[in-house]
Amino acid sequence: QQYEQELDVMQRIAHVEVLQHLPEAEKQAIAKLVTPVYVKPHHVICREGDQGDYFYMIAQGEAEVIKGRKVITVLGAGEIFGEMSLLTGEPRSATVIARTPMELYQLNEENFGQVLTRSPHLACALSRTLARRLRLSVDC
Ligand code: CMP
Repeated sequence: QQYEQELDVMQRIAHVEVLQHLPEAEKQAIAKLVTPVYVKPHHVICREGDQGDYFYMIAQGEAEVIKGRKVITVLGAGEIFGEMSLLTGEPRSATVIARTPMELYQLNEENFGQVLTRSPHLACALSRTLARRLRLSVDC
């Protein structure tokens, strides 16, 4: 039964961009560690200034990323968030609020760190995501 659950999680997170091109074994290792989270619209998933605790992958739905009072971007299925504070140890850089019902898969800080040190592919993919985000925020 556990095997079936892992297969299901694998399917749910199959479209997450940072997991594309990851060797199957690395995807399986991640699928074993994530927990599904279902949130309603307007739910505050993380709050700017709080300490970071989880990393999130979006399987379904959309969320607004808000800095101060400004919506800086909208994240959707296949995207990730919560990586910045876990990587730096600094507080959450933005507030993330669901704008539709969402299906998320979360990894706690410890597991996120472990997965990253074991998966060079994931580390590369996250660097790319971060570089893009940084570039976009420099542009505006
Ligand atoms: P973290 O700082 O842990 O918590 C808030 C999250 O919002 C952050 O990680 C990123 O995942 C996300 N975020 C912050 N700034 C941007 C941005 N410019 N573009 C996309 N996502 C962002």
